[in-house]
Amino acid sequence: RTYNLAVIHGDGIGPEVNHQALKALDAASERFGFRLESTEYPLGAQNYLDTGKLIEVGTLERIRRHDAILFGAMGDPRVAPGILERGLILRIRREFRQQVNLRPVRLYPGVPTPIKDLSPDRCDFVVVRENTEGLYVSEGSTVHGGTKNAVALQESVNTARAIADVVDYSFRLAQKRRKKLTLCHKKNVLVHAGELWQTVVDEHSPQYPDVEVDYVHVDAMCQHMPMTPERFDVIVTDNLFGDIISDLGATIQGGLGVAASANLNLDGQAPSMFEPVHGSAPDIAGRGWANPAAAVLSAALCLAALGEGEAALSLERAAASVLAGLPALAGPGMCAHTDELGDLIAQRITQG
Ligand code: NAI
Ligand code: MG
Repeated sequence: RTYNLAVIHGDGIGPEVNHQALKALDAASERFGFRLESTEYPLGAQNYLDTGKLIEVGTLERIRRHDAILFGAMGDPRVAPGILERGLILRIRREFRQQVNLRPVRLYPGVPTPIKDLSPDRCDFVVVRENTEGLYVSEGSTVHGGTKNAVALQESVNTARAIADVVDYSFRLAQKRRKKLTLCHKKNVLVHAGELWQTVVDEHSPQYPDVEVDYVHVDAMCQHMPMTPERFDVIVTDNLFGDIISDLGATIQGGLGVAASANLNLDGQAPSMFEPVHGSAPDIAGRGWANPAAAVLSAALCLAALGEGEAALSLERAAASVLAGLPALAGPGMCAHTDELGDLIAQRITQG
């Protein structure tokens, strides 16, 4: 088996952590006997500043032919906020119909969490966020009535078709895990969208009789997730609620250094994209302080999606074992450099 990866390093710590992910993937390919070919696409803030272009149609079409996209991070203080997000990241998600944003929330042993008394065995769930609709279609209008009387309308688009794809994916994921699916919404207030989500879940439920289904309002979710994360296995939700609760999830699991994500194409017509949740971190770029675990765990999600389950598990285990040793590595006089951590992770993958 040979997999063709499109690699987008991006800016700041993007290339620094992505290189560690590639090292881990190389180690896994040797150990598990598959081939990886990667092609780099120089996209991001620096490329935009140099060329004035975000991404050309020809580049998109070349990326489309890859099996998966490994994405670092992009952003630069010299580029206005929103330009890269809308012009590149959201564009890729939309063009490649990446309907699911997958955010595992797992507390690995040794990783400090701000939640008092939370032990790793109680925190292992996944947020499945609808990635293309809801309020994020950015449709609406502002009725200008002067500074005092303006009215802003922001539309939320929810199609049964997109919800069904995401809900079906979530049921199948739950079947492979602890067999519990929780719908998160605010259906008591957002009655139109909420009812459609609930209806789609109810319609799918009989096909998955082994999966237990429940429902939690998004505000209550913000209490339950940090206090009783063990009650969740797969949480399915819309674009906005998913954005918010998955950031809460990242905090619970110990922050941006360990939060991984996948943007999944479900129809097989375009590649999925795998990226750490963090951004380009200009404040620490170039210093070797970036934690590569989030990028390596994202690469693990990539292998799992490609069907290399064993290799995926070995990346996750290696990253987890290095994280478990980090408090010691980060002690006085022991500065753990991004590259060294990447080497250590690759080494553990090789050794098994
Ligand atoms: P950020 O995630 O880049 O950094 C937030 C804080 O977390 C910083 O103090 C940073 O040093 C720290 N941090 C982030 N990743 C880390 C890691 N792997 N190891 C250790 N510390 C880490 O978010 P920020 O500062 O709000 O944004 C910086 C730039 O990144 C902006 O241009 C923003 O637009 C962009 N951004 C891009 C994203 C993407 O490419 N998907 C996502 C979020 C932000
Ligand atoms: Mg976010």
